Order: sequence, then C-alpha cells, then structure tokens
Amino acid sequence: MDLQMISTYIRLSFLLVLFVGALHLSTAQTRSCARTCNVLYRCSPYYKELVYAVVDGVCRVYQNGCIFGNENCTRVNQCQSPLSSTSAEKCKEFCPRRCPRGGQEVCGWFPFINSNGENSDRYIAFANRCLLDQYSCQNNIAYAYEPTLGPCP
Ligand SMILES: *[C@@H]1O[C@H](CO)[C@@H](O)[C@H](O)[C@H]1NC(C)=O
Repeated sequence: MDLQMISTYIRLSFLLVLFVGALHLSTAQTRSCARTCNVLYRCSPYYKELVYAVVDGVCRVYQNGCIFGNENCTRVNQCQSPLSSTSAEKCKEFCPRRCPRGGQEVCGWFPFINSNGENSDRYIAFANRCLLDQYSCQNNIAYAYEPTLGPCP
C-alpha cells in the first residue's frame, strides 16, 4: 500500500465510524420515547382542584389538573409510565404507611389561597421524602413540584 491509499483508507474508516455513530444516535432517540409530549402549560399552583394518582406505588396529590398534566408529560418524555388519576379513596390506600426516620431532608411547598382570597405559601420541612408524601396524602394537601432538598428557606 502506498501512502495515498493508506490515507484514503483511514479517511473512509473515519467516515464509516461517524455514520454508524449517527445511526446509533437516531435509533436511540426514537427508542427513548421521542419526547412526544411537549405541552408545557403555565399552571397556577394556587388554584386548587385536587387530582389523585398512584405514582410508583405511592399515592400523590396534585393541586390541579394542569399541574397533573404537566407531571404526566414530563414522565412520558422520560420514558416513565404515564399517570392515570384515581379517586381519593382508592389513592389513599397507597399513602405511605411506614417511613424511615433518617434520609435526605426535604422542603415541601404548599401553595394555598387564604381566607382573603390571596395567594399564600406554606413551607414545611420533612426528614425525608416519604414523610412528605405521607403528610400530603393523609391530609389531602398538595405540594407543588418536586420538593427541594435540605431545610426550608
Ligand atoms: C399522559 O400523557 C400521554 C402522552 O401525551 C397522554 O396520551 C395521556 O392521555 C396522558 N394522561 C393523562 C391522564 O393526562
């Protein structure tokens, strides 16, 4: 082989690697749910019309259908199973029963409308996520979005 041939060969293999790589990327994207759900509503966390759903074996309370729909969308786009709402009674059979004492502390944000009709916020810290979900489930109070880690501000 002369130098010219070797360099052509190298260039061709390089292109082949690129091509196969691109092919892999595109099939991986199709398989990973293709982000079909891109409806991201702007939801009011204060408007209360509770939606209940059992999520990964735990009853979750959502403040309203808008937030619930967004959560569903996010899950679908992450290849997780879609959510389906259920009655409060059914859901509450899945309130966390026993929670560990330790773990990562979380802060739950509980938006509500006060008696003067004003948007208000209550922040409650829990020793862990399980205790937050238990509180929310047992008291029919929704926390908005994912809790932040650590103590409340
Ligand atoms: C969840 O999202 C999927 C995908 O967009 C949709 O087909 C399904 O109806 C949604 N479920 C609910 C309960 O909103």
